[in-house]
This record gives sequence, structure tokens and C-alpha cells, in this order.
Amino acid sequence: MDWGLRNRLSRIIVPDTGRSVMLAVDHGYFLGPTSRLEVPRKTIMPLAPYADSIMLTRGVLRSSIDPSICNSVVLRVSGGTSIVGEDLSNEGIITSVEDALRLNASGIALSIFVGSKHERQTLLALSELVNEGTKHGMPVLAVTAVGKELGKKDSRYMALACRIAAEIGANIVKTYYCDDFDKVVESCPVPIVVAGGTKVSEKDALELTYNSIKSGAAGVDMGRNIWQSDHPIPMIKAVRKIVHEDAKPKEAYELFKKLAKEK
Ligand code: R5P
Repeated sequence: MDWGLRNRLSRIIVPDTGRSVMLAVDHGYFLGPTSRLEVPRKTIMPLAPYADSIMLTRGVLRSSIDPSICNSVVLRVSGGTSIVGEDLSNEGIITSVEDALRLNASGIALSIFVGSKHERQTLLALSELVNEGTKHGMPVLAVTAVGKELGKKDSRYMALACRIAAEIGANIVKTYYCDDFDKVVESCPVPIVVAGGTKVSEKDALELTYNSIKSGAAGVDMGRNIWQSDHPIPMIKAVRKIVHEDAKPKEAYELFKKLAKEK
């Protein structure tokens, strides 16, 4: 692995702990103005100082994020579908690696839809991105999409999708927590970060964070469970406490409640 790629990776996964709190704010790429992310700048800027990396599209980066923020950025470069369209799995690459370099991204991300009609198309797109990324020292994060039409959200399916992403050459895999998650992590030879999924209680989201880390995940790439909370900053701080300080969920939840009250 060349120096540039390793340097970029270390801006996503913090070398001190080998872990990462990524803030996922890319939802608009197919969902439009998602609840509490209607005005991207308002949601993202106050949270940015607490995230190791921010995952978003180039459009939101250019329009809504101050270039002076010191966090690293992972650009979502797949898309071309919408929630009102026919098939969410019919994605392609929408942003070039050159543009990602120009925007000083530390990584590029795309979704793969294993088990869908467009499985082959999305896996070949991942391969293309890895080929291009490798030329330029740009790490690739593969997101294993989930959905009704795809395989069951269980460890066999997740392990299959994550392993395929790693075999194609993804440097980081983002997936969803499930039972027997340690088996998913064990059989994936590159770091895994866990998506938060739909909004649940803060207590449950912190449990999910803890269970993911305990099973061997390198961190979270969490969105709605942070910025759809009534107290997003206390929430991201509580998530950090687990990811970077190995706090138990109870301790992190106590911190969340304390910070939320102070606010
Ligand atoms: C899904 O592919 C989106 O790219 C989000 O980044 C992802 O779902 C993580 O966000 P959340 O924690 O809200 O699920």
C-alpha cells in the first residue's frame, strides 16, 4: 500500500485507537431532504468538530461545509437513483476520482447491492473505483446496501457481502450490525464500520455501538441516530466515548443524559 493511501486511511481511522467515528450525512443523494438534514450546513457544521470523518456528497461538501474544517472527508461517489424511482440498486459512479482528489477527500464510497438485479453492475463499479483509487492513493469504502429485495440482514448475508467487497479491494467496508456480528468481522480482512440505521432510542443506539465495537468493528459511520436525536452533540460525544475510550453503554448513556441536561 503506498504512502498516500495509508496517509489518507489514517485520517479516517484514527491511528491512536485504530477506530473511527464517521458522521454519515450523505442520505440526500437518494432520499432528498431527509428529516433534520433539510439544511445540510445547519445539521453538519455543529457536529463536524466531533467526527473523525464526514461522509457526504460533493454537492453538499462544496455548498455547505467550510473548507477550514480539519476533519477528513469521505465522498459518496455512487448514485443515480432516488427513493421515488424504480430500483435503488441501479446505481452507477457519479463522481470521478480526480474530483475527489481536487476536493481533498480522504476516501471515496460506493454502495454494492449483493443479491440484487444489479449485483454485477455495482460490483464492477466497485472494482473500477478500486482500480482508479489505487492509481491515485485514494482509499475506497464499500457500503453493503440492505433492503427488502436483498438477502436477509443476517450474519451469512452480511459476511458474504462484506467479504466480496474486501476481495474486490475495498479498503474499508461499511455494513449493518446483526446477530453473530463477530463472524462477519472475522471473515472480512479489512476494517468494518457499522451504519446506525433508522432512528432508535439513544440508549439502543449506544448499545448497538458498543456491540459493534465488542464484535471487532473499527468504528461507526452513523447518521440518523446522531442528527435525528434531540441532542445531537451529546449523542456524538457519547458514541465517541464508546468507540475511542471503550466505555460501556451505561457509562456512555449517563454521559449523554448529563450533557443533554446541561444544554
Ligand atoms: C446509506 O447507504 C447511507 O449512505 C448512510 O450513510 C448510511 O445509511 C448510514 O447512515 P445511518 O446511520 O443513518 O443509517
